[in-house]
Amino acid sequence: MADLIAGMGTSHVPGVGAAMDNGKTDEAYWKPLFDGLKPLRAWHASNVPDVNIIVFNDHATSYSLDGYSTFTIGVGDHFEPADEGWGPRKVPNMKGHPELAWHIVEEVMAEDFDLAVAASLDLDHGFTVPLSIAYDQPDVWPTSVIPVCVNVIQHPLPTALRCFRLGQAIGRAVASFPKDMSVAIWGTGGLSHQLGGERVGVVNPEFDQMFMDNLTQDPMANTKLSHAEFIREAGCEGVEMIMWNVMRGALNTEVTEIYRFYHIPVSATAYGAIILENK
Ligand code: DHB
Ligand code: FE
Repeated sequence: MADLIAGMGTSHVPGVGAAMDNGKTDEAYWKPLFDGLKPLRAWHASNVPDVNIIVFNDHATSYSLDGYSTFTIGVGDHFEPADEGWGPRKVPNMKGHPELAWHIVEEVMAEDFDLAVAASLDLDHGFTVPLSIAYDQPDVWPTSVIPVCVNVIQHPLPTALRCFRLGQAIGRAVASFPKDMSVAIWGTGGLSHQLGGERVGVVNPEFDQMFMDNLTQDPMANTKLSHAEFIREAGCEGVEMIMWNVMRGALNTEVTEIYRFYHIPVSATAYGAIILENK
């Protein structure tokens, strides 16, 4: 059977990808961030699963706001980096895993999660930056991926609890996949940030650390947060953190925190990353 080994939460700040793509990682601004990513990358280098399920959001890149689904799963056999206005990032294409993806569709639909299914979906920084954070700059990504896209930009959004429950259903689907293989799940986005409006630039380290503490110690606490609380405490785009709940829901009740890193500023954002292994 497939085995869900671990989860990662990470911000997906586009500037991190741009710093790598443009050879700026040793510059004074970026070095503390990339130094902090070294242990994370070392863990990934020795814990490469067969498939990463990557929970992310499209930033109105591949979707138009004229039509936005709440949850979408990518079932294609490959995915390409999206053009976000200055050409697609020069990172490798991503290999999909249609068999596990379709199994997840069937299993979670049977649990009343109505996923939209995408055979082709160009993936923006919300997806490619976490891959760069984990695996640096390889010629070929070391795992297959299954994109799970969550609407966090066009209200009404799914609740924090619904995200957690979707993760639980995905976790059960992985556990019932009848092939021996290892799987990991990532939640991306956040942490606190706001990119426009009167409170542009808001970051809230206390809230971010509480959210990460809860992931290990009391994950249900993060399911009780309303969108208004996320937005008030962590800024309008801080609500991206609900995607970490999908990741956490998929894992066991008991997890081991392997690594945590938090750094301000990264662009307008408080950068956070956490790795959790299933006990
Ligand atoms: C930034 C962060 C994001 O999560 C995003 O999607 C876009 C920009 C930023 O801090 O620059
Ligand atoms: Fe984002």
